[in-house]
Amino acid sequence: MDSIRIQGGIALQGKVRIQGSKNASLPILAATLLVGERSFIRNCPRIADVHSMVSLLKSLGCSVCWQETGIAIDSSKVRRGEMPEDAVTGMRSSLCLLGALIGRCSEVVMEHPGGCVIGERPIDLHLYALGQMGVEFAEESGRLRAEASRLHGAYIRLPFPSVGATENVILAGVMAEGDTVLEGAALEPEILTLCRFLENCGACIEGVGTGRLVIRGGRRLYGTDFTVPADRIVAGTYLFGCMGAGGCVLLEQAPIEEMYAVMDLAVQMGGKVYTSPEGICVQAPVRPDPVRVSTKPYPGFPTDLQSVVLAVETVGRGCSYIEEGIFENRFRILGDLCKMGAQLRQRDSRNVTVRGVASLHGACVEAKELRGGAALVVAGLMAQGETFVRGCAYIYRGYENICRDFRELGARVTSV
Ligand code: UD1
Repeated sequence: MDSIRIQGGIALQGKVRIQGSKNASLPILAATLLVGERSFIRNCPRIADVHSMVSLLKSLGCSVCWQETGIAIDSSKVRRGEMPEDAVTGMRSSLCLLGALIGRCSEVVMEHPGGCVIGERPIDLHLYALGQMGVEFAEESGRLRAEASRLHGAYIRLPFPSVGATENVILAGVMAEGDTVLEGAALEPEILTLCRFLENCGACIEGVGTGRLVIRGGRRLYGTDFTVPADRIVAGTYLFGCMGAGGCVLLEQAPIEEMYAVMDLAVQMGGKVYTSPEGICVQAPVRPDPVRVSTKPYPGFPTDLQSVVLAVETVGRGCSYIEEGIFENRFRILGDLCKMGAQLRQRDSRNVTVRGVASLHGACVEAKELRGGAALVVAGLMAQGETFVRGCAYIYRGYENICRDFRELGARVTSV
């Protein structure tokens, strides 16, 4: 089931329920390590990255049990911070186990974290921030060893609001001796969700939702029952899917508060967007208006939706300019979109010009990373004829069932 077959050219209609958030679930699952008791996490998406995180937690000694409504995790037996090689290299988000494990075990051994193949993705900010808190790093037979004989609070200023580094500081900070002041913290909603989870467990974090966090360390944490919010990136993928393929869809339970930049862009593209207690409803124009978009840290337009906007604008009514402001090398779908008839010009590693054409045609294409892969599925929905997307394992890292979801909206999509 590594490929997806799409019979394109059908406008989307109907409603789809949005799965729980990947980027919120992963640090929360890591945070259950700090609790040392049983936690219950509801609405965790059943995606490959969550399964990898669960197997990592098990390998560290947690007992984990999937139930119909969520995952029960008991971390009371965790003693050692040594991570198995294969699980870590496959998922960059396992990097946030670093902060949690250092908080729990004082010593961690792990591979250099992997994740999507987007740019170099260094971890210098993580190392700098945890270093300020008393963590010492060393290389040991190609693996990274982190050790903190005394994890302590610190004043940390991040030069760039890295989501992962912010999460690591929070996770280590709640266990550290004394207070940690973090300036330049990322503002992404997933940070807020992680703080809410930890607060439910008994942690004290001030400034939640701002760029300056004060984490009061050393409190005892207790197990809790927590519900992960809906995934704003999955909701955005389906919203732009409708903008490209045409039609009108309701994204049930979409996290409206987190999606203003996304909804604004859809309106600039000529879409009609309505919100209600049920979620977000979008009605597509005949062809999208061209846009000029630049990805930025939250509350700016999210980098994780850049590829899908690019795909949609291939049939725009003019020239769009897309700037990737977060990652290098995040335009790996350009060649495949050109195979489908798109007219694209990459000006440099950060900028692409999209000249809209009347329509795309189906082709055999290959997913090379998670969000780019989802964007190719959207391109397939927009195209005339049949499209095969290969390499879909990337897509399943973040989407529970993208085929089922688009079928709910009337598309002809099957995994083969
Ligand atoms: C998280 C998200 C990812 C999203 C990204 C930006 C998760 C699991 N993943 O990734 O979906 O695309 O935020 O919103 O939540 N950087 C450094 N040094 C570091 C750390 C980061 O230079 O130590 C750079 C990265 O190379 C990148 C930028 O900072 O260019 C953003 O990275 P970061 O915010 O850390 O993203 P992630 O936490 O990896």
